[in-house]
Amino acid sequence: MSIHMNRGEPPSPAAAPLSLDPQGITGDQVKELLRANDELKQLNSRLSDAQDKLMQSEKLASIGQLAAGVAHEINNPIGFIFSNFGTLERYLADLFEMLGAYEEAEAALAGTPTGERLKALRDKVELDFLKEDIPTLMSESKDGITRVRNIVQNLKDFSRVDTSQEWVVADLHHGLDSTLNIVNNEIKYKAEVVKAYGELPDIKCLPSELNQVFMNLLVNAAHAIQSERGTITIRTGTEGDRVWVEIEDNGAGIAKENLGRIFDPFFTTKPVGKGTGLGLSLSYGIVKKHFGQIDVFSEVGTGTRFRVTLPVHHPDKEA
Ligand SMILES: Nc1ncnc2c1ncn2[C@@H]1O[C@H](COP(=O)(O)OP(=O)(O)OP(=O)(O)O)[C@@H](O)[C@H]1O
Ligand SMILES: [Mg+2]
Repeated sequence: MSIHMNRGEPPSPAAAPLSLDPQGITGDQVKELLRANDELKQLNSRLSDAQDKLMQSEKLASIGQLAAGVAHEINNPIGFIFSNFGTLERYLADLFEMLGAYEEAEAALAGTPTGERLKALRDKVELDFLKEDIPTLMSESKDGITRVRNIVQNLKDFSRVDTSQEWVVADLHHGLDSTLNIVNNEIKYKAEVVKAYGELPDIKCLPSELNQVFMNLLVNAAHAIQSERGTITIRTGTEGDRVWVEIEDNGAGIAKENLGRIFDPFFTTKPVGKGTGLGLSLSYGIVKKHFGQIDVFSEVGTGTRFRVTLPVHHPDKEA
């Protein structure tokens, strides 16, 4: 349902005048009043939902900025820990080699006091166990650091604070991947993600805003998958001097009568408090700003495919 707001406009002269005298109110007028009251209540509740959503997105934006700032700060120490780790691994390999040579020499000292001391020490420190455990510890730690480094990188890519609101030439696959990592939690219990990426040239865009579009489409796709585990397929390709990105799910699908309204602000079929129906309208605005278009193909019970088509180059109007 679309909402028409006539804030501040005088009542239409055609409307029946409502008497304030309780004696003079007819049954029809009471009905009309109740109906108008219900409508207002509904409108009010949707407006407050929308306000919550907008506040939420404002909050998200500032949390995003904060997170990106922190990510930026973490990036440097992680960088040197990572590079020191590489060096440490090389040193350890050298040390182990040296230890091997000592062990060979130890055999020649068997029976001497030095030989005995070495053997006692080796038992005490459990040298054989250390030799096994140290490489495991190193590789687990390296995995951990790599994961932290990826999270930091994804946060930075996703929010792109370093290039905020600048039109830049960027790789959409990169944006899709970092967005996927961010929404992974929302998706992983509901669907398998299949990537069918084609060859894409870098395009001129506002990467953080396009990431927002991908995020909305991915989250909607995950929400559409209800009972069984589903599949979300991401395809990309080119078409002349335009590129396209498709996000397809095998979820519930969209009823024909709703297809024309899904991009309307506040149109949602989700329960109160779950969706405010702003995701697609915001996405539509972002895609338009990029001189692109967004199409939807859907069948109830089969699934839905959203296709975002964007020009590789476009006039610099927006910048
Ligand atoms: N992949 C999809 N499968 C089925 N229905 C969809 C899909 N994407 C969007 N819709 C329908 O379009 C409506 C509008 O989507 P939109 O993203 O604008 O809002 P929302 O998801 O309901 O709420 P919000 O995104 O603000 O949290 C949804 O409520 C849903 O009915
Ligand atoms: Mg949505």
